[in-house]
Amino acid sequence: MEQQPTVRKKRIFSAIQPTGIMTLGNYLGAVRNWVEMQDEFDCIYSIANMHAITVRQDPKELRENTLRLMALLLACGIDPERSVLFVQSQVKTHAELSWVLNCCTQFGELSRMTQFKDKSARHPENINAGLFDYPVLMAADILLYQADLVPVGDDQRQHVELTRNIAQRFNTLYGQTFVLPEGYYPKLAARVMSLQDPTKKMSKSDDNPKAFISILDKPETILKKFRSAVTDSEAQICYREGKEGINNLMSIYSAITGRTLQQITDEFAGKGYGEFKTAVGEAVAEALRPVQERYEAYRQDKAYLEGCCRKGAEQALRLSQRTLEKVYRKVGFLSL
Ligand code: TYM
Repeated sequence: MEQQPTVRKKRIFSAIQPTGIMTLGNYLGAVRNWVEMQDEFDCIYSIANMHAITVRQDPKELRENTLRLMALLLACGIDPERSVLFVQSQVKTHAELSWVLNCCTQFGELSRMTQFKDKSARHPENINAGLFDYPVLMAADILLYQADLVPVGDDQRQHVELTRNIAQRFNTLYGQTFVLPEGYYPKLAARVMSLQDPTKKMSKSDDNPKAFISILDKPETILKKFRSAVTDSEAQICYREGKEGINNLMSIYSAITGRTLQQITDEFAGKGYGEFKTAVGEAVAEALRPVQERYEAYRQDKAYLEGCCRKGAEQALRLSQRTLEKVYRKVGFLSL
């Protein structure tokens, strides 16, 4: 019999920071897709705690949030039997590659990053070198695993582009080393907006808790937050420029229920915003219920969570070490 060539599955890499509790934006913009991608791709996911310390963190809280996020990712459906799931700081190659990549990244490129500009405006008292260098560590995360695709929300687009530029530059200087990764953005909900100011991205660091839905919010809290979502005074449920609040709610509802924007407009024709907001809130609460139940079970089992960290870190180290060794050789570091 003729032997079929084995086709290498595409490799996926993505990560999320363990700062606060995951929001509906993180879930719809990224994590839900990570779960789906496990069927088709070779997936590697990380908890980016090294990125988290670019903003001051309480050490005890950071430790707790890291394990909590591990439990939450498992509850969302990341399966450590099928995917590699690990904590960034537990795999030393990330810091190591990021130093080499620093030396292939220009000051000007990093100065243009909008997230750096936003975050330094928000934390003027702590514009540290790590905050400036953040995208290079992100490039190291991705390039270490020779990832083909990076599933992220729209706010990470500029960082993924920079990663490609760094990889390309390294390949030109030292010969083919890195796969050039591509961003993979969801069609719907790539940018979930704040419920209180729909011109701003939904963010867990928002001072107003009514602006974001946390994945662990109780159903009644979710309903309350959606009911108080800022909309407009038109009383017409349709997706159109200038109706950012309604557009956001329609995108969320569509991403959760699978209905198209047109179907949603038809469903709510002649109905008021109050009814629509309640429907969105109920749909979100219902979708999150099983995740919340599973989360509670994982959360109780610290030994299991630590075991997942250990296993994931070993797998990630093995995979990333190959790339790091190649890079060290190429740049002229002596090996022992
Ligand atoms: P982080 O922790 O801010 O967010 C995790 C993921 O959630 C997406 N996201 C959103 N999507 C839609 N609407 C929103 N309102 C929203 N808010 C957040 C983000 O786009 C992201 O995909 N730098 C990254 C973490 C990281 C990483 C990496 C990502 C570190 N290394 C390597 C990809 C590859 C971050 O801060 O994500």
